[in-house]
Amino acid sequence: MSETEPLLVLRNIRKSFGRVEVLKGIDLEIGKGEIVALVGDNGAGKSTLIKVITGVHKPSAGEIVFKGQPITLKNVQASRLLGIETVYQERALADQQELWRNIFAGRELTRFLGFLDVAAQKRETGRLMRSGMGLTSRAITVDSEVKGLSGGEKQSVAIGRALYFDADLIILDEPTMGLSLKETERVLAFVRSIREQGKSAIFIDHNIFHVHDTADRFVILDRGRVVGQFHRSELTHQQLVDMMIALHEAGQVA
Ligand SMILES: Nc1ncnc2c1ncn2[C@@H]1O[C@H](COP(=O)(O)OP(=O)(O)O)[C@@H](O)[C@H]1O
Ligand SMILES: [Mg+2]
Repeated sequence: MSETEPLLVLRNIRKSFGRVEVLKGIDLEIGKGEIVALVGDNGAGKSTLIKVITGVHKPSAGEIVFKGQPITLKNVQASRLLGIETVYQERALADQQELWRNIFAGRELTRFLGFLDVAAQKRETGRLMRSGMGLTSRAITVDSEVKGLSGGEKQSVAIGRALYFDADLIILDEPTMGLSLKETERVLAFVRSIREQGKSAIFIDHNIFHVHDTADRFVILDRGRVVGQFHRSELTHQQLVDMMIALHEAGQVA
């Protein structure tokens, strides 16, 4: 893949559930080292689109090209192995499992003959908790079950996993929902650090302040279509807010 080639290209992606077409031919490019925000009203198709990119949903039509190669994703595991990592509240983690198992799920460290190296996975998780994840509470250990963690702590686990496996594309679908101010700041700092490391992200957040402060580019989705794309320099925060309100009102009368 050349330096200028986009990391991800979507061509004419369509997705229907039964007779309802939710994505109506999406064309989108994500550059290397670029943070792209998907913005749009509830039901615009943002989550469905990222689920196509992460292998949760198979597109009804269209092409996905990642690092210059056309790809077909059988499941979420397949996208992770390629370097696409999802960080978001719902369904990203296995609640009933310990923290260390969540970090290594599907990419376990093994010893000779393929035996799981549990000790190494716990050790690496402990190291990650102290360095990248900011999980310093003495109440949380590598053996803690994820279901006992707060929303912000769960985000930290998903972020730690993305860091550990050095994902190229990190997807965050409303990662700040339900978080405290401090936890939100930590997530936004993480999103900014993605760009600094030359990695890419797709970021969805209802808070236009978060979006405008964090993303390089905004892609506006409306009822399954891309209706606008802007670089941050092209649009003030207020213009972005006004656009969202206009889209919402148009949706109400349609
Ligand atoms: N699994 C599904 N089955 C049927 N309809 C769905 C499914 N997932 C999403 N939808 C519908 O697709 C539309 C877009 O949803 P979604 O992608 O979640 O929007 P957004 O994330 O932008 O709010 C909505 O009308 C939603 O009801
Ligand atoms: Mg959504």
